[in-house]
Amino acid sequence: MAQNGALDNPVLNKFNVEGKNIVITGGCRGLGFNFAHALAQCGANIAAIDLNEQASEELEKLSFGGKYKYYRSNVADYQGLKKTIDQIHEDFGSIDGCVPAAGIIRDRPFLEHTEKDWRDTIDVNLNGVFFTIQHCAAKMVEQKTGGSIVCIASTAGHKSLSPQTIAAYTASKYAVRGLAKQTAHEMAKHNIRVNSISPGTILTDMLKGVMEQDPSRRQLFVESCAMKRLANPDELSGIMLYLMSEASSYTTGQDFLVDGGLV
Ligand SMILES: NC(=O)c1ccc[n+]([C@@H]2O[C@H](COP(=O)([O-])OP(=O)(O)OC[C@H]3O[C@@H](n4cnc5c(N)ncnc54)[C@H](O)[C@@H]3O)[C@@H](O)[C@H]2O)c1
Repeated sequence: MAQNGALDNPVLNKFNVEGKNIVITGGCRGLGFNFAHALAQCGANIAAIDLNEQASEELEKLSFGGKYKYYRSNVADYQGLKKTIDQIHEDFGSIDGCVPAAGIIRDRPFLEHTEKDWRDTIDVNLNGVFFTIQHCAAKMVEQKTGGSIVCIASTAGHKSLSPQTIAAYTASKYAVRGLAKQTAHEMAKHNIRVNSISPGTILTDMLKGVMEQDPSRRQLFVESCAMKRLANPDELSGIMLYLMSEASSYTTGQDFLVDGGLV
């Protein structure tokens, strides 16, 4: 029996992101680009941040009628990123969603991890996420509109992924889950939800790089999950749409594993 206005609010309407302004870091390729593509297809406006001088060709070709703008900025540069997010706020009028997807990985045995490997990884994967969500959340609080933040963690934020040798990466991803959990509690009073997605092995340039470094990894990745295959980036679009929209209005502080049964 329909209650609480269910008939007036069909469930599919809850997945509407039309007109939402969403900041995506690492937006030029891989998962960041895929999220930009999926959300733009559903009518969102996208502000993509990445390191490249120009937007990627893929990003340039987004053609769903919404507004897209590319911003060159390093997520590890606190002040530079703040300026970029101020600019996005000015250009778009508001920030309703934030997806810090920029990330790097260094696959090297623990004792061979250099200081630079550690610092670079933490700088992008953890500091960059902290800076991005703090700058975006500040705008959402100022606007008094609420918002949704979806961090990108990893199955590496749940367990050690032997035989990969990714100590700094793993540490950064456990920390991202913790950051999302804590900030969800602090931001709830502002109607800002903070969640994270933990993808398994998704066929992006990052993963291809890991497999090129050691081709035996592909088989290990495939064997290590119940579904016995790698995933395409667009297999994360559904969970992103759920978390970015009102469909997830009572969901915050959670991590969502999308891993083909890895963990
Ligand atoms: N691909 C996977 O299997 C997988 C699995 C779990 C988690 N993830 C996570 O998903 C996110 C995206 O990964 P991906 O596979 O798409 O990687 P990718 O390497 O294909 O894309 C990452 C993007 O981030 C950008 N970037 C890197 N450093 C940056 C910086 N300092 N400032 C701004 N942009 C920067 C890169 O230029 C690139 O466009 C990462 O956080 C990664 O850890 C990926």
